[in-house]
Amino acid sequence: MDFTPLRITTVKPQRSLTFDLYIFFKEQYLCYAKRGTTLTDDKYQKLKVQKIAKFFITESDEGNYQKFLDDLLAETLANPNVNTEEKVIMVEGAASSAVERMQKNPGSESAYRATENAARSLRDVIKNNPDALKKIFGKKVEKNEDIIKHSLNVCALSVKIAENCRCSDEDMDDLGTAALIHDIAIPQLNKNDLPLFYKPKKLLTNDDKRVYFLHCKDALTLLQDKPYVNKNILELVANHEETLSGSGPNKKKKLTKLEEILSMVDNYDKRIITNKTTPMQTLKDMMIDEIGNYSLEMLNELKKVLQTEGLLQ
Ligand SMILES: [Fe+2]
Ligand SMILES: [Fe+2]
Repeated sequence: MDFTPLRITTVKPQRSLTFDLYIFFKEQYLCYAKRGTTLTDDKYQKLKVQKIAKFFITESDEGNYQKFLDDLLAETLANPNVNTEEKVIMVEGAASSAVERMQKNPGSESAYRATENAARSLRDVIKNNPDALKKIFGKKVEKNEDIIKHSLNVCALSVKIAENCRCSDEDMDDLGTAALIHDIAIPQLNKNDLPLFYKPKKLLTNDDKRVYFLHCKDALTLLQDKPYVNKNILELVANHEETLSGSGPNKKKKLTKLEEILSMVDNYDKRIITNKTTPMQTLKDMMIDEIGNYSLEMLNELKKVLQTEGLLQ
């Protein structure tokens, strides 16, 4: 049997499960709750706080779980009695599972559809809840979750900037999905090359860059023969390290507005990871270092969003 990971934050207590819920414990998968049963509040709270168990469904239950999650997300996001924090936790859970699934199984259409839905929910929660972006950025994660967290950050901030730039809904959905999957090929780098993800861009040698930049082409290779991935998304993923000065792996100098947003936001969030600078310092650095790599207009959009969303405090 093949198993698919899920986050327990995407399951609610007192709600009939439409799939069998498994945990991975002592090197084996155990059915923890059967379909048709519900988790009590008590049990659920305990599951949420303990970090030992990982949760899974069988591959054959993916469709059932997705339907469960989509309904739950729609209800939760539309419910005025649910606070922003809870909404954010659920959407983050959905997006994190989706990205994790794409990393492990990039050729899975169901993982891709889950990613599209998660990107849409993320956009929805940010659009309708003033504090959501700040809450998403404020979350701390464990080191092995860095790339997933980075993908969520880039998705959330890119989509917010695109909204301010009056991009179409369709474009924002494409941007959000592309942002969630833009780095799916990083875990496929050679183990010895993985630390490059944590190395400041300024310190990357030409050899480092050649190796590190492979993740753009690799992601394209993983996705390009999939009929359900549209061209807009493929281009965004392939060009996410490109800049207006042609410093990216594809040496592209003309970027679409969406490509420029994605590359700039990726750069911003990546700096915080690699340089360990505060948001304020990171913005200041970018306003100096990245002139010519992004248009001043776009850098100012970044500044504006960081200010108005309270991300600089
Ligand atoms: Fe990247
Ligand atoms: Fe990235």
